[in-house]
Amino acid sequence: MKILGIDGSPRKNGNTEKLVKNILQGAEANGAKTRHYKVARMNISPCLGCMDCRESGICIHEDDMTPIYDEIQSSHAIVIGSPVYMWQVNAQTKTFLDRLVLFIKPDFSSRLNGPKGLVLAFTQGNPDAHAFKTYFDYLERLFSFLHYGVRETIVAAGTRQENDILQQADVLEKAREIGMSLTV
Ligand SMILES: Cc1cc2nc3c(=O)[nH]c(=O)nc-3n(C[C@H](O)[C@H](O)[C@H](O)COP(=O)(O)O)c2cc1C
Repeated sequence: MKILGIDGSPRKNGNTEKLVKNILQGAEANGAKTRHYKVARMNISPCLGCMDCRESGICIHEDDMTPIYDEIQSSHAIVIGSPVYMWQVNAQTKTFLDRLVLFIKPDFSSRLNGPKGLVLAFTQGNPDAHAFKTYFDYLERLFSFLHYGVRETIVAAGTRQENDILQQADVLEKAREIGMSLTV
């Protein structure tokens, strides 16, 4: 079983990366193979809206997203992590999300080759973990519409300096538990 970690934070070894990796480590502890992609530091071009992929299932961009499409298809579950920038996912994560349009067929059914569990993992400077709950719920609804099996959303709040999340043992423990739950 493979679990794919998508890390939309440009900050190396920052809070989002640690949160995503804790989820992956939980999955590994239960025997899963995992892959971590720091998409914010990869060459992933914005969608051009050409809609070629709608019929063909192939994106006209040949960039670092190409192997990730295959990784998504060969994964049992996906973890998507983003820092909150301006009350939303950051631009790098949004660029990745837009490129998932390739998996939508003309009739809005899915090209995904099987059930894909999904975990959303957010970090935010605001110490109130509920501050952006409406937005996170909205993203859960988006992914349900896109035929992903949304399992859980985890939020690390009040993370400003790159190691702040290390002070949140409860969040890191919950992240590992979520990772473990993805393998069953
Ligand atoms: C450009 C920018 C915009 C941000 N906007 C918000 C925001 O709207 N709300 C919030 O709570 N935190 C905001 N933050 C703080 C980050 O979400 C927070 O520090 C996050 O944990 C950073 O993750 P990282 O350690 O992976 O970089 C912002 C940070 C940056 C750099």
